[in-house]
Amino acid sequence: MVRVLGIESSCDETGVAIYDSDRGLLADSLHSQIKLHNEYGGVVPELASRDHIRRITPLIKETLSTAKCQLTDLSAIAYTAGPGLAGALLVGASVAESLSFALSIPALPIHHLEGHLLSPCLSDTPPQFPFIALLVSGGHSQFMKVTQVGEYELLGESVDDAAGEAFDKTAKLLGLPYPGGPHLAKLAATGNPKRFHFPRPMIHSGDLMMSFSGLKTAVSLTVSQYQKEDYNDIAASFEAAVVDTLCAKAVHALKLTGIKQLVIAGGVGANLKLREQLTSVIKQQGGSVFYPPLKLCTDNGAMIAYAGAQKLLSGQLPVQKESFAIYPRWDLQVYSTRYKS
Ligand code: KG4
Ligand code: ZN
Repeated sequence: MVRVLGIESSCDETGVAIYDSDRGLLADSLHSQIKLHNEYGGVVPELASRDHIRRITPLIKETLSTAKCQLTDLSAIAYTAGPGLAGALLVGASVAESLSFALSIPALPIHHLEGHLLSPCLSDTPPQFPFIALLVSGGHSQFMKVTQVGEYELLGESVDDAAGEAFDKTAKLLGLPYPGGPHLAKLAATGNPKRFHFPRPMIHSGDLMMSFSGLKTAVSLTVSQYQKEDYNDIAASFEAAVVDTLCAKAVHALKLTGIKQLVIAGGVGANLKLREQLTSVIKQQGGSVFYPPLKLCTDNGAMIAYAGAQKLLSGQLPVQKESFAIYPRWDLQVYSTRYKS
């Protein structure tokens, strides 16, 4: 049995959770900084770091108390070491490394995207290895082949904007608050997705590469030609274009690899239209789709605690321990070499 405290502080959410390999998730606390950054229309890195500093210790105490456990009951401390905002990452990293030193238990630097792509394993119906993960967040749109914990192969990604970034930028064009994705989805629910035909970029490229920046330009042109009362139709038509593109690529990913299980991870995975349509097209292919529980789609400590526990259970420990580091830009495949079995 292992029991791991997970700390996430890579962007605008302080997440702390405790995962127990026998009993599952014991506690999962989150403090979102949405209100703090709202008036600036996006994340202000320095404000993010300062808020993580304020929140992290009370959140750890709260999480331990909810889980009814002590620091001395923990097997390891897992934390997001990258990619993300340098100052924000440093908060989680220094707290986790200090705790690990004080308690003489391992500190496990976790790749943020590994956390996301393993998060569907925390649902009641987890996928089995191998699976294809479609990772759609504010910073990434990638297809990964996941053979086992720590074995990831990048199959394709966006050549420009990430899907979440496209949602956020389009929402801004429509005058919606940050973070735009959920607001845009809400507005889209009242609109007609067939009214405007926006491009489905690279849909016939034959590979798993994607592009979302042209789509945003097309929306921008339309916005300038229409009135506010048309914005719900623009939002719905934009959402349909992103969802169609991701669905077509996902079907292609399963065909190319022969793998039948698709996992959706990252913030955009909370989009209900995407969930609905993907489930239906993948089913038609004889495959199945796995999602994290809705609240674990966006950033959280649970996915980091879970990834840390899986590392320990599979006997993987981080190499070199004289110092710790954070990695604001970090390739998932390079990250795998940070661990040895
Ligand atoms: O994974 P995440 O919380 O943070 C990153 O690691 O980037 O993803 C955040 C992204 C944002 O771009 C946000 O707008 C988007 O996920 N998002 C959504 C929805 N909920 C969050 N996009 C579309 N529809 C949603 N319901
Ligand atoms: Zn994330």
